Amino acid sequence: MWYSRAALQWYRLLYDAFLSRLPEPVAISLGQTALRRLPFDRFTGFRLEDSRLAVTLGGVRLPNPVILAAMYYDRRILERAMGLGFGAVTTKTITREPRPGHPQPNLVRVRTAAGAGLVNCNGFQNPGAAAFTATLRGLAHRVPLIVSVAGETEDDYVELARTLGSLGDLVELNISSPNTRLVYAWNTRPKDLRVMLERVRAVAGVPVILKLSPDFADVNEREIIPAALEAGVRVLNYGNTRRIDEPRLSQGTGGLSGPEIFPATLANVQRTRTRFGSALDLIATGGVDAPDKARALLDAGATAVGYFTGFITRGPILARQILEALVAR
Ligand SMILES: Cc1cc2nc3c(=O)[nH]c(=O)nc-3n(C[C@H](O)[C@H](O)[C@H](O)COP(=O)(O)O)c2cc1C
Repeated sequence: MWYSRAALQWYRLLYDAFLSRLPEPVAISLGQTALRRLPFDRFTGFRLEDSRLAVTLGGVRLPNPVILAAMYYDRRILERAMGLGFGAVTTKTITREPRPGHPQPNLVRVRTAAGAGLVNCNGFQNPGAAAFTATLRGLAHRVPLIVSVAGETEDDYVELARTLGSLGDLVELNISSPNTRLVYAWNTRPKDLRVMLERVRAVAGVPVILKLSPDFADVNEREIIPAALEAGVRVLNYGNTRRIDEPRLSQGTGGLSGPEIFPATLANVQRTRTRFGSALDLIATGGVDAPDKARALLDAGATAVGYFTGFITRGPILARQILEALVAR
């Protein structure tokens, strides 16, 4: 459609000439203010309704396979995002207690050969489970809502899945953010992970998604995915950011997102689908910032694709552009 192409061009100009020249936290905060204040979601042009686009994740029907990945916890932003063409929207990862996150600077922009990306060491800045329960109560699910949670202990995950899970349509367990040691460490404890997943499934009341790290590709295939399957988890999100050293960040390391990690996402999806067949529904996240990348992941066996960095660098029209490309096919 001409207007989605025009909107993409317009946003590209705005991003290249203005937003990308601001420090990234300022640009992100401007974007969040705009999302909170301006009723973008009333513009029907962001959406494309076509029953051929529908998919199911763990038995839950999504109107299309494009998912906004974990980042936002603000109620107004979540509400708006659900009207911007996505087939599902994921919340920021929520922990039991509120967390201030890591100190600034915790987000920087990188220019890689593949295009614009981000490196963050956000450290799960979030309002905590009690406040977020209030946020989610009464929130209209215009499309399915995926509630993301993480903890440091087995009990944390079980408690979060019990209290927050049923306020979403699916619950996503984050064991893959590289910025909080104890979450990331689940990747080295597959036996404990299996027990945790069994307990979570027993209380969640909604399908469970396990979000994997691209930093553990071998371990994922050998131990983590088999442990998830044995525990009855049928949906994977592959995956999160890639851990890299970044001296500009307060922690000296962070998670790289954006087009540089796309080749790894594609390879991970291809291998996982080949190895585990149709036993799993697979969300492919990492580096999607153009329709052809979303298509390549779906062709490689992904059930759905997620992205966050593309939402920042390409703007809110990207979902519509991807949907047009899928319908054209
Ligand atoms: C600033 C920032 C915050 C993020 N917060 C979370 C989070 O709370 N939970 C999570 O599972 N992933 C989080 N992510 C990771 C994204 O959801 C996504 O998995 C990752 O960025 C790779 O996708 P992308 O290349 O499309 O951005 C965050 C990413 C960024 C850049």
